[in-house]
Amino acid sequence: SNNIVVAIDGYSSCGKSTLAKALAKKLHFIYVDSGAMYRAVALYFIRNNVDTKNHDQVAGALKNIHLNFHSRDYQTHITLNDEEVSAEIRQMPVSDKVSEVAAIKEVRKEMVRQQQRMGKSKNVVMDGRDIGTVVFPHAQLKLFMTADPKVRAERRYKELQSTNPDITLEDVFENLAHRDYADTTREESPLTRAEDAIVLDNTNLTPEQQLQLAVDLVKPFV
Ligand code: C5P
Repeated sequence: SNNIVVAIDGYSSCGKSTLAKALAKKLHFIYVDSGAMYRAVALYFIRNNVDTKNHDQVAGALKNIHLNFHSRDYQTHITLNDEEVSAEIRQMPVSDKVSEVAAIKEVRKEMVRQQQRMGKSKNVVMDGRDIGTVVFPHAQLKLFMTADPKVRAERRYKELQSTNPDITLEDVFENLAHRDYADTTREESPLTRAEDAIVLDNTNLTPEQQLQLAVDLVKPFV
């Protein structure tokens, strides 16, 4: 097929989704937040006490998990078995658990299958950790985003403060460091830059500057 896929990967909280949403909106593409899928699975595992080391429990859980995106305003709206969980999946219990759940081979296999289906015949911008390496190795444009870890923690801290008044900058920094370590060192599809991905360090770039860069890069394909 001749649909266009933009793959945006990178470390935790370095502005992938901000850029992905803005780019999708500008191009009238579909935006898919692959991290939200792993987060929703992690939420199910937490609620149902699924033992991540027990293959039968994991397989059983995956059979009972039905995820759906309903996009509105290019924000992530995801349902887990028809329940809206978009806010809950951003909270710390899920953030602390998600990388453990995302390291499970069976979980990745099922999520990748669903992601590939979403980008099969439609123009999409998808962000995550393995989009350019595993999900869409033939994406027309691949970006690999990074930023100074302290800057990333401060950005995420500001976002979380309104809903979590008790959260500290240290908690956020620790969580990001933990997820980056787990995501880059896991056995299954570790976070790594695809050879043909363009590195975008946005430590000192505004969202508008990032969008302009991405729009210029995608121009040859649209
Ligand atoms: O993108 P976000 O930070 O919401 O992703 C949450 C977690 O989901 C990541 O830290 C990672 O463990 C996992 N993830 C993944 N593969 C993706 C997207 C997210 O393993 N494509």
